[in-house]
Parts: sequence; C-alpha cells; structure tokens
Amino acid sequence: MRSFSVLLTAFLFSCVDKFLGPTPIQSYISTESAIAKAGVLANIGPDGSKSSGALSGVVIASPNTNNPNYLYTWIRDASLTFKVIAQKVASEEDPTLRAKIDQFFLSQSHIQTLTNPSGTESTGGLGEPKFNINETQYTDKWGRPQRDGPALRATTFMLYANYLIANNNVTWVAKNLWPVIKLDLDYVQNYWNRTTFDLWEEIGSSSFWTTAVQHRALREGIALAEDLGQMDVIPGYVAQANNLLCFQQSFKHSSGGYITANTGTCRSGIDSNTILASIHVFDPAAGCDAATFQPCSDVALSNLKVYVDSFRSIYSINHGAAGNAAVATGRYPEDAYYCGNPWYLSTFAVAEQLYDAVIVWEQQQVINVTSTSLLFFRQFISDIGSGSYPASTSTYSTLLAAIKNFADGFVLINAKYTPSDGGLSEQVNRDNGTPLSAKDLTWSYASALTAFAARGGFIPASWGAAGLTVPSVCRSNPGPTASVTFNVYATTNPGENVFLAGSVPELGNWLPEKAVPLSSQNYPTWSATVTLPGYTSVDYKFIKKHNDQVIWSSDPNWSWQTPEAGTANLSDTWR
Ligand code: NOJ
Ligand code: NOJ
Repeated sequence: MRSFSVLLTAFLFSCVDKFLGPTPIQSYISTESAIAKAGVLANIGPDGSKSSGALSGVVIASPNTNNPNYLYTWIRDASLTFKVIAQKVASEEDPTLRAKIDQFFLSQSHIQTLTNPSGTESTGGLGEPKFNINETQYTDKWGRPQRDGPALRATTFMLYANYLIANNNVTWVAKNLWPVIKLDLDYVQNYWNRTTFDLWEEIGSSSFWTTAVQHRALREGIALAEDLGQMDVIPGYVAQANNLLCFQQSFKHSSGGYITANTGTCRSGIDSNTILASIHVFDPAAGCDAATFQPCSDVALSNLKVYVDSFRSIYSINHGAAGNAAVATGRYPEDAYYCGNPWYLSTFAVAEQLYDAVIVWEQQQVINVTSTSLLFFRQFISDIGSGSYPASTSTYSTLLAAIKNFADGFVLINAKYTPSDGGLSEQVNRDNGTPLSAKDLTWSYASALTAFAARGGFIPASWGAAGLTVPSVCRSNPGPTASVTFNVYATTNPGENVFLAGSVPELGNWLPEKAVPLSSQNYPTWSATVTLPGYTSVDYKFIKKHNDQVIWSSDPNWSWQTPEAGTANLSDTWR
C-alpha cells in the first residue's frame, strides 16, 4: 500500500512537471547558470569576449571602463572566480576548464613577483589588492593592503593541488604549485596580525572576513604541506592558525546577536562580510560548529537574520515584503557607494548560506535550536523552543521545507531584478531594482554559480574545520620573539664590511642602507644577533659594503623560518 502511494506521488509529481513545466526558480537557474558561466569566461583573458587587453589568465572585475572603472584585476575577485572554476574541474563537471586554471596559475605566479605600492614579493607586496590587466602594478592611491587576497588565492590553488594529487600528479604540484602557494601562506603567517583594508576596500582595521579566510587557508596549508612532506612550515602555520581561530572569536557583538564585521568603526558592524565568510569557510565535516562559523551554526544563523532584517526598511524595493520573507540585501546598511544598494552577490550569498545549512542538516538528520538561534527559527515556527529536532519529527520537516523556501526566495529576488538578457551587474537600484554600477561583474556571476551549486546539494571538500579547539588564551600582540645569531664565513678586502639585509623590517626590508652591521670579532666569520618575530618566514642575504659600494651575495636568497621564541644560530658561507 505504502509503496503504491509512493509510486502514485512520484507519478503525480512527474505529471506536474510535464504539464505545468518547471517552477520559476528552476527555469531561472537553468537559463542563468549558462549565462553566468559564459559571463565568467567572457571576463578572462586572453580570449574572453569582454576582456580584450587582459593577458592570459587575467580575470577582469568587469568590462566597465567608467563609472566605475573596473577594468583591473583584483586578487580577491579573481581568486573567488577561479575557486568556482577549480571546483568544476575537481568535480569533473567540466574538465576542459583545466587549461584556464593553468593560465591563471602562470599569471598569478608572475603577479606575485611584481614590486608594487604594498612592497615586494617578500616584504608585503602580496597584499596589493589590484593590478592592471597587462600585469603591471597599479600605482594610484587605493585602500591597501588587503590581506584577504593571498589567503583566497592559496585556497583556490590548494583546491587544484588536491585534485592533482588525487590524480597522481604529486611531483608537478610539489615543483610548481607549492612554491606559489607557500609564498601566499607565508604571507598569511607573517602578516595576519597587522591592520588590513576590508574586502570593500574602505576600512583599515581588522576584518572578520579576512581573519576567517586566512584561518581556512593556513589549515588547508598544513594538510597540503603534510601531503608534500614540507614539514618545516608546519609548526608556524599551526601556531598562527590557532591564533587566527582565537582572534576570530573576538568579532562577536556583545548583545546584538551578530558578528561585527570590522573593528574600530562607527558603523553597526552588520555586513555581508560575515555571510560571505560563512559560505567561504563552509566545511561539511564540521557540522554546525560555531567556532569556525559554519553556515548552520547558531551564531551564523542569528547573524544572518540580523543582517537580512537590516535591509527591510532601508530599500524601497523591499517594502511590502512579509517580515519573514526574503528581501534584497547589500554590503552593509550604512553603505553609501552609489548611494547604497542591493548587490546580487550579497543576496545570493544569503541563499547559499541557507542551502549549505540544509546540506548539513540533511546529513546529520537533526536540527538543533539554541537560545542563540531561536529568533532565526521563530521566523518559520513562531512558538518553537530550544531543543533538538530529529528527522523523525514534523518540526524538522516543517523547518527544512520552510528554510529551503526562504533560501529560494533570495534567488527569486535576484531573478526578479535580472534583466531579460540575464546580465548581472554589481548592484540594483534600491528604489526600483534597475541594474546599477559595473556591468557584467565577474563576481556576481561567480556568486550565482556557487549559490546554484549549493541548492543542488554540492558538497565541497573538507578543509580541516572539524574538531578544532579554540585556544583559551589568544596570542598577545605583538607575539613572542626569537633571538637569532647570524654567522657568515666571508673573507673581505681592507675597508670592506659585511652586513645582513632581508625581507623583514628588522633586517631593513632589503634596503642596503638599513642592513644590519656584522661584527668581525671572529674574522673570517662575521656575526650579529637580531631579535625577530616568532614563526615568521625570513629571506635574507649578506652584503659587503665599501664606502658607497655594495656587493650582494649571489642568488638565491637564504630562506628560513624563525622558531616561536628562544634562540637560534645560523651559519652560512658567503657566495
Ligand atoms: C571603490 C571600492 O571598490 C568600493 O568598494 C568602495 O565602496 C568605493 N571605492 C568607495 O570607497
Ligand atoms: C568593489 C568591491 O567593494 C570590492 O570588493 C571588489 O573587489 C571590487 N569592487 C572589484 O569588483
């Protein structure tokens, strides 16, 4: 009897599909997926149809050249875009895209080496947020550095690396990808603790998004380093990942039920920075873990509600929507860029967080409601109480259906404001929903693709968020230091002295005039003891100076990671 009614239901559903056709969300997703994928590819050089002038593998933010001029490449936008592409390759959905990743890889390995206003490759230049599309530095005034870029780029390349390792390409990964990934991870390790501009390029402070994606990158880096036998980097990455996880907890607002996106501003701190963080650190193996801010964690759900609600009254296009219905959302309520409007990528991100949550609830067959997430769940069952609702309960099924529907609502809002050609700009006008600001924003298309994939139940690879413990004491700022004695065996001519130059301020940031003098007390060994920050990767060289003349030791640089604290002794020979 039961199997008959199951069959009958299945039959009726297939009739609905046959006679009534796809639902509005199904038809939007089926047309918009193809448009979004084409939209991404059009914005990648050298042959993208909307990116002429962009070198091979360079992702333009948008073809728009004025109001605003987005014909540049941002490390953030490009890395998030290639995360989508790498995912399509890794899941074998579209293996033909592999050639594009290789082009992106070559392009980024070159961009890493460009001296730019944030520094050089080894002195902080990896934090430079944007470059010209012919791979030269952008020298005008800008909100720099932005320290999320290296972390996001490393995550994208690690996705690719793990795919290649699974397909027996370990040697290629170790030789080619690892050095590029390591530079970015070393940057995260060395600089996470310093002020950064946020992802909206406006505020120089500390940012939840940046912290969360940096933490993820280091954890993934630890696992990859283990796979590749690169054991020397692991202690430093572990120490700083723990410090990042600790610091990440400090963004919780004391009473508002949300995460404060940036420190030290007079804004509310409500910001899609945090929604984006939850979807980009999603690790299905971590369940609904709050410390790593998983999409279904009580803190992330509470945060989602506060964030969404902050746009209900400020955008006219949201007026009239029920208090628990989906609405268009923007970067943050106080936004004034183009007068402050909904962004496609923000609204898609809300849908994606909810779809990710659904994936985990279905995996674990239970929904837990806590006092922290109560208000979120009361949008769907007004008198629900805290508790654990297993899949056998009607509460579970009611919540799951209502939340899927809520998530679909955000996609449908974007669908409503998508013009008939399917093009996605950056924003839509808050009063009438017409497209605004940059046309064909690559990141808008990428955000559509990841939201659609999450709706389809796509489960991303785990990055190691499961089972972490937040250290009980966060590292003090600045952290511990190590006392390092550098010795070099170097014969010199009369009048010549030996100095030590290197990639950190303590070694003069490579400037010969700021290099550290070495003592010749034990000639021909020259020595100096320097206090350096703990767990920091340092590149250095010895130089000989005679009056104004400088002779550098030959390439390559010496490269080394400091211990956490204590003392160390290095002995090198001049070359
Ligand atoms: C350009 C940035 O890209 C954007 O995020 C910012 O809001 C405006 N400048 C205003 O600072
Ligand atoms: C402005 C956004 O605020 C920023 O996040 C983005 O990187 C650039 N536009 C380029 O799309």
